[in-house]
Amino acid sequence: MSRLDAFLARLNAQKLLLEEIATAIADVPGPVLELGLGNGRTFDHLREILPGREIFVFDRAVSAHPASIPDGEHMIVGEIRETLAFCGPRVKAPAAFVHCDLGTGDPTADLAKAQWLAPLITERTASGGFVASGVAMDLPDFEELPIPPGLEKSRYRLYRKR
Ligand SMILES: C[S@@+](CC[C@H](N)C(=O)[O-])C[C@H]1O[C@@H](n2cnc3c(N)ncnc32)[C@H](O)[C@@H]1O
Repeated sequence: MSRLDAFLARLNAQKLLLEEIATAIADVPGPVLELGLGNGRTFDHLREILPGREIFVFDRAVSAHPASIPDGEHMIVGEIRETLAFCGPRVKAPAAFVHCDLGTGDPTADLAKAQWLAPLITERTASGGFVASGVAMDLPDFEELPIPPGLEKSRYRLYRKR
């Protein structure tokens, strides 16, 4: 698959998965954690499809489109390895949904990141809450759910905490 095809598959999967999860978390209280603001595209979509739901966004830097930047209380700047571990006083409740979009495309770097991320995500997700990740993760407290048909090429993985 060319990188252009892979990019299109990822964007398409992101939109469909985010919309599916937005419906699925209707009865799960708690905020949404967006790991990776980037350009702000998925954050902007999440706030559109989840009006009224608190969304906290994590990134080491703010370089998004100016129209897609969270307010100061909900933008958590820094290395996620540190900010996710210590965001409790600010985020407070366990998350109904964690969207993890930190993949680099480098398999070794992604594997290393998934190792330290998995326990932090486990700690911050509510029971019954969902995780969608661009990289596979070892999450023993979660059930891996099937990816909706047609989205297999996106490499997205979907998990629900028991
Ligand atoms: C692929 S982009 C996110 C794209 C975004 N979801 C969008 O739709 O525009 C990944 C982002 O994750 C951030 N990132 C990656 N690893 C990080 C880390 N360890 N700590 C903090 N931010 C990180 C990068 O700075 C980058 O902005």
